Amino acid sequence: MRAIVAVDQKWGIGRGNDLLFSIPEDMKFFRSTTLGKVIVIGRKTLQSFPGGKPLKNRVNVVLSRSGAWEGCVSVKDIPSLMREIGRFSDDDVFVCGGASVYRELIPYCTEAIVTKVFADGNAEVFFPNLDEESGWVLQSQSEPVESNGYAISFCVYKNTSVKAFE
Ligand SMILES: NC(=O)c1ccc[n+]([C@@H]2O[C@H](COP(=O)([O-])OP(=O)(O)OC[C@H]3O[C@@H](n4cnc5c(N)ncnc54)[C@H](OP(=O)(O)O)[C@@H]3O)[C@@H](O)[C@H]2O)c1
Repeated sequence: MRAIVAVDQKWGIGRGNDLLFSIPEDMKFFRSTTLGKVIVIGRKTLQSFPGGKPLKNRVNVVLSRSGAWEGCVSVKDIPSLMREIGRFSDDDVFVCGGASVYRELIPYCTEAIVTKVFADGNAEVFFPNLDEESGWVLQSQSEPVESNGYAISFCVYKNTSVKAFE
């Protein structure tokens, strides 16, 4: 499985249970990457979506200890999640946050697709800094593009020591 995330220059990802920025180019990229695939999200991220509803045309797998969520496949812990996503091709599964879910699942991801936003979003929650995490290497970085007044760059990090789930 792979993680997909947008980070600011401090690897910040959110504030007040919302995203830091509204960036149409990144939204478009996220949509085209995940459409028809499986997204793995935490309950708080689900609730941050418009109307608190799952994203359309994707299998939404939600981690939550507090119950089942309409329109989603709800799982109560990581072993149940791993069983659930085992039904799909590894390439089709995207870990889409938030912070706690990224933190728990990043060791099992083969790749992280990171949109870097060259700004400080004054974040409260963060993604692991992959430039400092052992085993992670920056494989590619696009030239910066501009969207909604922000300079952004699309990056891919590879995990050279993917953890196997026992
Ligand atoms: N920049 C980006 O690309 C991006 C992407 C996604 C989200 N975000 C941001 O990230 C923030 C939300 O992150 P967050 O860390 O506060 O919340 P989160 O990870 O979205 O959700 C946390 C919740 O997920 C459930 N959960 C997590 N681990 C679990 C486990 N092992 N077993 C069972 N349930 C588990 C729990 O739900 P229960 O309490 O129901 O048990 C927990 O309270 C928001 O600001 C959002 O906008 C940013």
